[in-house]
Amino acid sequence: MATKTKAKSKTKTKTKTRKATLADRFTNKIVCGDITDVVETLPRDFVDTIVTSPPYFRQRDYGDGRQLGRENKPRDYVDQLAGVFEKLLPVVKPTGSLWLVLGDKYINGELQGMPWRVALALKDLGWHLRSDVIWHKPNAMPSSTRSRPTTDHEYVFFFTRSKDYYYDADAIREPHVTFTEKSRMKGGRKHLGKRGGTPEQGKNSGNSNLHDGRWDQAFHPKGRNKRTVWSIPLSKFREAHFAVFPTTLVENCIKAACPPDGLVLDPFCGSGTTALVARQLDRNYLGVDCSAEYCKLARRRLQSTKP
Ligand SMILES: C[S@@+](CC[C@H](N)C(=O)[O-])C[C@H]1O[C@@H](n2cnc3c(N)ncnc32)[C@H](O)[C@@H]1O
Repeated sequence: MATKTKAKSKTKTKTKTRKATLADRFTNKIVCGDITDVVETLPRDFVDTIVTSPPYFRQRDYGDGRQLGRENKPRDYVDQLAGVFEKLLPVVKPTGSLWLVLGDKYINGELQGMPWRVALALKDLGWHLRSDVIWHKPNAMPSSTRSRPTTDHEYVFFFTRSKDYYYDADAIREPHVTFTEKSRMKGGRKHLGKRGGTPEQGKNSGNSNLHDGRWDQAFHPKGRNKRTVWSIPLSKFREAHFAVFPTTLVENCIKAACPPDGLVLDPFCGSGTTALVARQLDRNYLGVDCSAEYCKLARRRLQSTKP
């Protein structure tokens, strides 16, 4: 009996060690390979949050035969991406999440609705959709079109693996909006008791007459809860031939969804912005890209900006 117990605990220890070495292999690394293959080798329940922007439908040629995004039909593109994120679901911890940044596409003047097609496909595969954030780009490229408004936004979908998930709302609160004479929030202004008074001055904070929603809206000392429109200018990074993530966008996602010391994955890491920001915020990272050139670029970028 005693021998059996010993053997069992030995096997347990062995499995634990194997898991640890596998995790080491993928912690704070840029891995060069097709995510469709790499995902099969990743440990389960490993990642706290994924922050990524996959290639958009027929937008750009990244110069690698294994790249996604060059499919002929929207349906094929959706199937390919959904296939990757289906395999990534068990790689994320049960409390983990995914921030998916996607832009749309016009074909013959018709909007294809690609971000929502992908989002709904992921929902069908078991990802829980929690939020659709509009990333407004104040410096978006002007366009010559006169037959419709010029697009200056993309989507950031926030998904979770399960119903119980890590989300630190306080980490990304935004400044309160000052009450003005024209403010419709009359209750708030009345509570302040002074014309032009602002909640930032802390007046009436903690007033028990204010129900939770109002208090949170007007007086939370760290600001109001993050809204779903994020106005963030596009970043330039000369060495990359494509638009890289603005660091502020990635910061929001990581601060809210990855606990300190947790791990952030970008399965389409390009120039490595997600990895860089994760490290700056004292989180671990894993970046994957099929292009050897971009993997080199990401590693160089990480090396040249030591924490
Ligand atoms: C939009 S870019 C990502 C840019 C990145 N967010 C940044 O800040 O630099 C998409 C990246 O996905 C990579 N990619 C395309 N197909 C892939 C695949 N099958 N496996 C891994 N990476 C892939 C491309 O090489 C490209 O670098």
